[in-house]
Amino acid sequence: EMDPVKLMKQEVGRAAAAKVQSDTVVGLGTGSTTAFAIQFLGDRLASGELKNIKGVPTSFQASVLAKKYGIPLTTLDEVDKIDIAIDGADEVDPQFNLIKGGGAAHTREKIVDGLAEQFIVVVDSSKLVEKLGSTFALPVEVLPMAVAPVTRALTALGATVDLRMGVNKDGPVITDQGNMVLDAKFEAIANPAEMEAHINNIPGVLENGLFVGVATEVLVGEVKDGQASVR
Ligand code: A5P
Repeated sequence: EMDPVKLMKQEVGRAAAAKVQSDTVVGLGTGSTTAFAIQFLGDRLASGELKNIKGVPTSFQASVLAKKYGIPLTTLDEVDKIDIAIDGADEVDPQFNLIKGGGAAHTREKIVDGLAEQFIVVVDSSKLVEKLGSTFALPVEVLPMAVAPVTRALTALGATVDLRMGVNKDGPVITDQGNMVLDAKFEAIANPAEMEAHINNIPGVLENGLFVGVATEVLVGEVKDGQASVR
C-alpha cells in the first residue's frame, strides 16, 4: 500500500510526463513530485512510445534520476531552446506565480524553466496560496562571503531571515553551485515582480525563488477519501 500523498505525487508526475512529445528538449526539475515525472519519462522511452528526447537537468538530483531512468542529457551549450519543462513548486498563486527553492535548486531551475516554451508545474493542493510568501519563506541563494550583508538587507525589507542549515550535515546547506541559502519569511509578498527584481539587485545575491510569469500550466494533485486525482 502506497501512502495517498505519494500516490498523488505519482499521478501528477505521470500526467506531466504524458505531455512530453518525441524529438523535444525537456527541462528536468527538482523535488519529490518531479522525480515521478522523470521516472515516467524513462518508462515512456523504454516502451518506445516516446523517442528522441534530451533532458536539461536543473540540479544534481535531476541528473542522477535522469541517468537512473535512461534519459539522455544535454546542456544549454548544445541546445538553443527548451520545448517543455516540468518542475515542482513550494507555493503557487492564482496568477501561476511561484515560490521555489525548497530544495535549494531555484537558481538553475529559473534558468531552465524560464527558457522553456511550455513550463508545467506539478504540485499538490497544499501548495496553492492567495498571496505568495504567506506560508513559505522565500529562498535566496547567496555567495558565502555576502551572507551577513544580504541578511541585513533582507531584514530591512521586513523579512525574518534564517541561514538554511543542513540535515544530516553540520553547518549550512551548500547549493549545487557552492553557495548558501537564506530563507526570508515575509508576511505576504504584495508585488512579487517588484520583490523579485529588488532582491536580485542586492550585491551577493545569485537568485531568489520568486518565479513571476514563467509557468504556463499548473497540474494540481489532490487526495480525497484515499483516492488521488489531478486537475
Ligand atoms: C527545488 O529547489 C524546489 O524548487 C522544488 O521544485 C520544490 O521544493 C518542490 O519539491 P516537492 O515536489 O518535493 O514538494
